[in-house]
Amino acid sequence: MEIIKDPCLFQRQCLGWRLQGLATALVPTMGFFHHGHLSLMDFARQNADRVAVSLFVNPTQFGPAEDLAAYPRDLDRDARLAAEHGADILFTPGPEAMYAPGHCTWIEVPDLARGLCGRTRPGHFRGVATVVAKLFMLALPGLAVFGEKDWQQLAIIRRMAKDLNMPVEVVGRPTVREPDGLAMSSRNAYLSPGQRLRAAAIHRGLVDLAVRAAGGETDPAVLLGGLRRYYAENLAEADIEYLEIVDPETLEPLDLIRGPALAAAALRLGPARLIDNISIGV
Ligand code: PAJ
Repeated sequence: MEIIKDPCLFQRQCLGWRLQGLATALVPTMGFFHHGHLSLMDFARQNADRVAVSLFVNPTQFGPAEDLAAYPRDLDRDARLAAEHGADILFTPGPEAMYAPGHCTWIEVPDLARGLCGRTRPGHFRGVATVVAKLFMLALPGLAVFGEKDWQQLAIIRRMAKDLNMPVEVVGRPTVREPDGLAMSSRNAYLSPGQRLRAAAIHRGLVDLAVRAAGGETDPAVLLGGLRRYYAENLAEADIEYLEIVDPETLEPLDLIRGPALAAAALRLGPARLIDNISIGV
């Protein structure tokens, strides 16, 4: 595996693959790998001739009061894991290389970025869409792999690729969980041991909701009321940012579940902001 810092070099290498007719998969990440990231790399390895993994803690998707400086990093371990999981290139640019002075071009997908996480993280998805578009232009992948844990991010990237006719297939992969159900996240590292144990209630509450939906409850208000009570009883210390049931594609809140739906939650637990979701409905 080659580690490349320079965007031009990375682009030249990926363009070379494309000219040779090799199918390239890209896995964009911010590093501090866990099994969620690694599952995306494994999928990329199985579905392409060449795999590029990018590791870039993208400053433009962090708000001024967010954890950019504290974001966990371990390049040596990440490089070893990416190599073990079949990456051909690990692309690790610095912020100055990705955002040259005077950078002023942005990609926005406003209709999908307004709700859910977008409400408390203004500008976040503009930063995500812009950096992913830049990574697509550098890596020129036929396939790009993302996790369903960040459902809104995935929906926005799918929409961006479609709207801008980007020649890339965007694939979403299932959330990888700890044995107790907590969605793996680099930010779980912020939790104290006690908080970490109690955080498993986030997923348990969503599973409980999905069971009630499968049992015939179609009223989101009833389902979300139950979820709110579950968290009040099992995770009282958490601040709930949102609990919503939305259309999985448009992300619009539903007032009745008639078909596919997504229940999504965001909570603050101590220093960590944690998100999770579950598919419900037909
Ligand atoms: P990061 O949080 O590092 O996540 C990189 C990829 O891993 C994303 O597609 C994310 O959805 C996926 N992922 C995270 N946790 C997962 C889990 N438990 N199971 C499966 N997949 C999981 O998301 C970002 O970075 C950034 O916003 C990025 C897209 C790289 C743009 O900067």
